[in-house]
Amino acid sequence: MGREQAVYSPGLAGIAACESAISHIDGEEGRLEYRGINIETLAERASFEETCCLLLNGKLPLRAELHRFDSGLRHHRHIKFRIRDLMKCFPESAHPMDALQACVAVLGMFYPLPKGEEDGALSPEQVEDVCLRLIAKLPTLVAAHARMRHGDDPISPRDDLSHAANFLYMLTGEEPDPLAERIMDVALIVHAEHTMNASTFSTRVTASTLADPYTSISAAIGALSGPRHGGANEEVLAMLDEIGSVEAAEAYLHGKLEHKEKIVGLGHRIYKTKDPRATLLQSLYGEMVTKFGSDPTYEIARHIEQLSAGTLGKKGVCPNVDFYSGIVYRKLGIDTDLFTPIFAVSRVAGWLAHWKEQLGHSRIYRPLQVYVGKQQQEYIPLDDR
Ligand SMILES: CC(C)(COP(=O)(O)OP(=O)(O)OC[C@H]1O[C@@H](n2cnc3c(N)ncnc32)[C@H](O)[C@@H]1OP(=O)(O)O)[C@@H](O)C(=O)NCCC(=O)NCCS
Repeated sequence: MGREQAVYSPGLAGIAACESAISHIDGEEGRLEYRGINIETLAERASFEETCCLLLNGKLPLRAELHRFDSGLRHHRHIKFRIRDLMKCFPESAHPMDALQACVAVLGMFYPLPKGEEDGALSPEQVEDVCLRLIAKLPTLVAAHARMRHGDDPISPRDDLSHAANFLYMLTGEEPDPLAERIMDVALIVHAEHTMNASTFSTRVTASTLADPYTSISAAIGALSGPRHGGANEEVLAMLDEIGSVEAAEAYLHGKLEHKEKIVGLGHRIYKTKDPRATLLQSLYGEMVTKFGSDPTYEIARHIEQLSAGTLGKKGVCPNVDFYSGIVYRKLGIDTDLFTPIFAVSRVAGWLAHWKEQLGHSRIYRPLQVYVGKQQQEYIPLDDR
């Protein structure tokens, strides 16, 4: 196809990569819905397990369906000893996201699926089994690696705890307080799906080749590991620590704006008002303070939000999900470099919903390129160059 016929948009901005019925964002109103239900409602009334059913199956589960799904997750939490042994061979300095990506790719070798010749090659039971295994095992992989890299033994999952509580238990060795469990549950709900971002697109591109789902999710984890995608919450904490006090916030903000530098945690390509997930995480923090005490970084963040409202806020640059999530995770006692793996533990539900949806489309992704190189060049023999 000639240059004039190919439309090129850097980053595919403004180009729809698929039709999807999974989630919807209204960036002007600051609304995020999973299968038509807004996340505030899900955060208040559903569990992460129920949210997974909704995302994967397109409807809220009946009691018996939820029970079956939840039991399936509890059943599949364990990981093979050989995967733990593999983790022991990783360098101690390995980033948890790299370890997670490698382990998820390895999972596919332990649970092989038929290589599909055409769409629908997997039975509904196989599809459900894959979803359960991946959602169930990701927290175990993250927690096992988090402990083993410090020389601690991994903690076996417990099947009498919820998904969120079991994850915190495997990380800390202690059964979490009900409030901590609730906070983690809501954090998992609000990060579970977010339309066509880079990692979800990676899932769909890989799935469109009919590569196995472990490979698709491993590709998504790789995409999420980049600092432009996951990880902004780590940078927010670093910024708040650097600012150090509420009094220093104003000078910091003005300094950044004067030099046309970005304030991390503010602004979003789609939301032109406050990200609804930021509001939810902020209110979770409010719940935590009464029980666990306040955190000075939160006061600095809130002050930055207030100070920037009149300038950046007017341009639609407001707190995004990362602005408050790191503060919440730190309050739960979680290591900073586990923030992005936690994102993956949650987002795997959305990725799998997209994997399932992609199975229903027979077309492999094959976009065009705009060729800007030379053409019709003469070959010069080695001795003549
Ligand atoms: C996410 C992001 C890339 C969106 O950028 P964008 O699409 O260019 O945003 P907009 O077009 O709405 O920006 C409008 C204006 O606000 C400025 N702006 C956007 N985000 C800003 C920020 N975080 N700090 C300061 N200024 C910002 C832009 O430079 C632009 O300025 P201009 O009017 O002088 O040209 C950007 O906001 C950003 O880098 N944020 C910080 C990183 C971050 O938190 N990432 C995680 C996102 S979930």
